Amino acid sequence: MRKTACFLMLALGALSLNAQADVETAKAFAKKYAAIAKNINPDFKGFLPDMGRNFFKREFTLKGKQVSCSSCHTDNPANPGKHIVTGKPIKPLSPVVEKSRFSDLEKVEKNFTEHCNNILGRDCTAQEKGNYIAYLLTVKFDVQGNEQK
Ligand code: HEC
Repeated sequence: MRKTACFLMLALGALSLNAQADVETAKAFAKKYAAIAKNINPDFKGFLPDMGRNFFKREFTLKGKQVSCSSCHTDNPANPGKHIVTGKPIKPLSPVVEKSRFSDLEKVEKNFTEHCNNILGRDCTAQEKGNYIAYLLTVKFDVQGNEQK
C-alpha cells in the first residue's frame, strides 16, 4: 500500500504546486487517477459517476454501527457535512461550491487514505477515487447549492 501511495505522490506531485483550487484541478486529479487505474487494470474503461455516488452512500458496519462516507459528508457533495463523532461542521466536498477542495494533492490523498481506512478498512482504489471525483464533477447545483436531478 505504501508503494502505491508513493507512486501516487510521484504521479500527482506536479499538480500540488498548483495553488489554484478549482474544478480544473479536480479534473486534472481525475486524469491522473485514470492513468493509475489503467496501469493496474488494463481493462479499465473510464470512471463511472453513478458508481462514485453509490460508493459514497454504501454502508459498512463499524463497531456495530452502519456508516458511510455520507455519514459525515452527506449524500449531496454541495452540502456542508457534520462529523458524526465530534459534531464539527465540515465544508462541502464539491469543488464547485467550495474552492479549497481538491486543490492540494497531499490533503486529498491524506483524507482519502484516512477516511477509506476508517470506513472500508483499506485505502480506496484509484478507480473508486476517480469515480467519486467524476461524480462530483457531473453533479449540477442550483443557486443554493442544492443538487439538481
Ligand atoms: C467521521 C467523519 C467522516 C467520514 C465518515 C468521512 N470523512 Fe472525509 N472528511 C471528514 C472531515 C472532517 C474532512 C475535512 C477536513 C477539512 O475540512 O479540511 C474530510 C475531508 C475529506 C476529503 C478532502 C477533500 C479536500 O480536497 O479537501 C476527502 C477526499 C474525503 N474526506 C473523502 C472521504 C471518503 C472517500 C469517505 C468514505 C470512505 C469519507 N471521506 C468519510 C470527515 C469524514
